Amino acid sequence: MPPSIRPMLASDIPLLANWMVQVPLWQRYNLTAEQAITNFQSAMQQGDWLLTADIDHPAQGFAWAVPRGAFARSPYLRLIGVQPGSASTGVGSTLLHAIEERARAHATDIFLLVSDFNTDAQRFYIRHGYHQIGQIPAFVLPNISELIFRKTLK
Ligand SMILES: CC(C)(COP(=O)(O)OP(=O)(O)OC[C@H]1O[C@@H](n2cnc3c(N)ncnc32)[C@H](O)[C@@H]1OP(=O)(O)O)[C@@H](O)C(=O)NCCC(=O)NCCS
Repeated sequence: MPPSIRPMLASDIPLLANWMVQVPLWQRYNLTAEQAITNFQSAMQQGDWLLTADIDHPAQGFAWAVPRGAFARSPYLRLIGVQPGSASTGVGSTLLHAIEERARAHATDIFLLVSDFNTDAQRFYIRHGYHQIGQIPAFVLPNISELIFRKTLK
């Protein structure tokens, strides 16, 4: 069944936080459910773009972009994730397309950061037309570089 993509609701946040802490990537960044909840709540308050994917259960995927989060100019895809049991079925692609569609109405580019070790996500982004344009060593975690990816939308 294709995912249903809709704006994130406050009631989705605890459901998302509950599975996010089981994702190895976010475990590596020491994300706690409390931090995930606080991050989404402040993103919602500041009007960031927050989408949720319902699959067989509600809130099994999400995408979060900051409208002018890249250089106070272009959208910055801050996080995207799919509940591990629902990964590799096209949900991430559907969420990414939805964010890009929104970005296209506002900007000519979209940017994101991806961890140097997260080769699965890098492959996912490259397949969707993103290119690495730089990297920031030890920006979030010591010994890890955050790769800067850009996609030109128009
Ligand atoms: C990266 C991530 C968001 C991608 O979401 P996803 O739903 O798995 O992505 P998709 O299913 O659209 O595409 C990913 C894979 O599924 C395959 N796929 C796409 N549509 C498919 C479909 N309908 N049926 C089966 N497989 C499909 C793709 O070929 C791709 O394969 P590959 O990357 O292994 O070569 C997700 O894996 C995730 O949450 N990862 C952990 C968190 C993370 O790394 N986030 C990104 C950095 S913030």
